[in-house]
Amino acid sequence: MKSYVKITDKIKSYNKTLQIDGDKSLSIRWALMASQATGKSKSLNILKSEDVLNTLECLKKLGVKVKLFKNKCEISSKGLNSFNYSKKIILNAGNSGTLGRLILGLLVHSKNKIQIKGDKSLSKRNFSRVTIPLKKFGADFKSNNGKLPIKIFGTNHPKPIKFDEKKGSAQVKSAVMFAALNTGGTTVIKASKSRDHSEKLFKFLKLPIQINKKKNYDLIKVTGKKKIKPFNYNIPSDISSSAFFIVLTALSKNSKLKIKNVNINPTRVGILKILKIMGVHIKIKNVKTYNGEKVADLIIKSKKSFKPINCPTRLNSAAIDEFLLIFLVAAKANGISYFKNLSELNQKESPRLIWGSKILNKMGIKTVLTSNSIKIFGNPSLKINKNIIIKEFLKDHRVFMVSVVAALTFGGKWKIFDKSSVNTSFPSFISKIKILGAKFK
Ligand code: S3P
Repeated sequence: MKSYVKITDKIKSYNKTLQIDGDKSLSIRWALMASQATGKSKSLNILKSEDVLNTLECLKKLGVKVKLFKNKCEISSKGLNSFNYSKKIILNAGNSGTLGRLILGLLVHSKNKIQIKGDKSLSKRNFSRVTIPLKKFGADFKSNNGKLPIKIFGTNHPKPIKFDEKKGSAQVKSAVMFAALNTGGTTVIKASKSRDHSEKLFKFLKLPIQINKKKNYDLIKVTGKKKIKPFNYNIPSDISSSAFFIVLTALSKNSKLKIKNVNINPTRVGILKILKIMGVHIKIKNVKTYNGEKVADLIIKSKKSFKPINCPTRLNSAAIDEFLLIFLVAAKANGISYFKNLSELNQKESPRLIWGSKILNKMGIKTVLTSNSIKIFGNPSLKINKNIIIKEFLKDHRVFMVSVVAALTFGGKWKIFDKSSVNTSFPSFISKIKILGAKFK
């Protein structure tokens, strides 16, 4: 099978309805939390991507019973800290920062040492952001300069901690919350704003959690050693995956798309807010609450012109995985857009701020890039007539998919490598985009 796609034709107009794959953050959290519940938990519509399948594999190695069916998953566990595993265990987090970091939180109380490794991209990413707070619980770590592979040596008596989470990282916050489940006291986290799926899950499970929302941070208190009841979860669609189709539709001609049952958790909808400021037509219909999470249908229409944006930094965290797509809209906007305080983007599966700029430059769009900001000089009449090759991007799934969206909406002759990267988060990406009429060579 070819490892690249070739795109030479823009997508024609369409009017369709799609159902997008399950949310990755919720799928991983459901599995990790189910591994701590006493009894059998079930989920429907769990995302069957490599990040989630690696989560299930890690849990199996830790002695948890996992059964995966066509559209259903069952996890049976003996409860908190009941992992049962062989002495020389190595867990493979693959490409997933969420899995690698969150699972460490569940292992602070583990009996024997456990090693965690990851792929080339994950092995370049920083893990000291989680090992530093987890050490305060009493666990010990050996790492490769704060990077994978890491060995964790759990403690017999994890103690509650006070922690100031300053990066706005939901992964770090959640790892600490998971570790707190194993302590006999109350852990207090002062957390800069980030996605709050873990908090919502703790509340839904009626675990002792208190959240005091302040303007710039949340004060979260978690008390541990409470029995977790098994639970069922029907996972809604992922807004980060939907975002590729939202921007594809906004940038293509005379098209309309309905995406059903998307998780629109307020800490995830930065993309919708930013695109609305830029003039994109997005309607939110049929809003419901499910297990504490908001879900809705999204209706998007194409637009001929877009306003540039001086992007408010308070929206950064809620749009953190969608900036590459937002940059494409800025490329077509009628003026200069400015995005700042985005150094975290370079800490993702690839240095995404740099890659955002590279893709735009290849398209013929001028940018001014610093280590934490980008200025994009939009060109509403941009026409691409040249060859563009996108490769060697550490197989970052979002770099691949955003390049496909750019090729289908701006034109030019594109060759985009590492097609299989979509399996990390969105295995049905290519087949869904074909439903809308995209042609690949
Ligand atoms: C995630 C949190 C974010 C996000 C990642 C998923 C999560 O990372 O980029 O794709 O599920 O908690 P950080 O917490 O590192 O910002």
